[in-house]
Amino acid sequence: MTAVVRAEGLTKYYGRRRGLEDLTLEIRPGEVFGYLGPNGAGKTTTIRLLLDVIRPTRGHVTVLGAGSREAAVRARIGYLPGELALEGRERARDYLAFLARVRGGVPPARIRALAERLDADLSVPMRKLSKGNKQKVGLIQAFMHEPELLVLDEPTGGLDPLVQQEFLAMVREVRASGRTVLMSSHVLAEVEHVSDRVGIVRAGRLVAVENVAALREKAVRRVELHFDAPVPAEAFAGLPGVRELRVEGAALSCTIDGRPDALVKAAARFTVVHLVSEEPDLEEIFLTYYSEEGRDDDRQEPA
Ligand SMILES: Nc1ncnc2c1ncn2[C@@H]1O[C@H](COP(=O)(O)OP(=O)(O)O)[C@@H](O)[C@H]1O
Ligand SMILES: [Mg+2]
Repeated sequence: MTAVVRAEGLTKYYGRRRGLEDLTLEIRPGEVFGYLGPNGAGKTTTIRLLLDVIRPTRGHVTVLGAGSREAAVRARIGYLPGELALEGRERARDYLAFLARVRGGVPPARIRALAERLDADLSVPMRKLSKGNKQKVGLIQAFMHEPELLVLDEPTGGLDPLVQQEFLAMVREVRASGRTVLMSSHVLAEVEHVSDRVGIVRAGRLVAVENVAALREKAVRRVELHFDAPVPAEAFAGLPGVRELRVEGAALSCTIDGRPDALVKAAARFTVVHLVSEEPDLEEIFLTYYSEEGRDDDRQEPA
């Protein structure tokens, strides 16, 4: 398996100011990789290095097996920059048609379909587009040529919740077709439901890479069960992973650490009329990585 993105010791200093330090990371074909970190962490720096928009101070990176400076490689990448400058008098539709030609042709119907899904208004001159509509035009141009790798810098900023959902559906479709997505965000909730793995960057350093499904399985979740008649608390005592157990008449509540299997099997002896299982709170897990926010004094290269 060849990595789609392979960074080794990738480092960027802006003068003496650290943008990114010693990033080593592989992104696998067909995965959605969420790149998370607070503002100023180094997400945009990483993405610009990957796309060869800026040059590393040290280290190197390959994308799709080559350098992304090569036009042939660029054509296989879809890129949504973090700070999208769409300013012209040109209508969004004409701008997209222009990009489509530059990229060797995109069926107009595909552009229309994307615009419809995202509810984008393409009839407006670019400089008059709202922030949300600019973001939509940015997404359309990133997706429209069906690139093998999508690199999206904070793609959900400025999108309303319905459009965000549609966007996430588009990302899932990209993965389903075996293509790869790297997307950054400073909000876990925006990426956790769509990412296979999540990398956390803080103060220019990658501090963790986690498999989201494994984290979810390990995370604590609250569960409530309601039965058709009162149940004996003893039937649920000492179940592995079950904590904070409360049985009151026909209602049971607890937290589960890991798999709910033992609880489900114990409950199956009674008649369950209602079940509530809250999504595990991954935010809590990630807060431990976020908590020591980058201090400015450790951002300078040692003299
Ligand atoms: N062009 C630049 N010149 C100087 N410092 C920069 C520049 N771009 C980014 N930085 C600094 O690099 C660090 C990482 O920034 P950035 O990659 O934009 O973070 P993020 O995208 O995670 O918000 C920040 O401290 C930022 O101030
Ligand atoms: Mg950024």
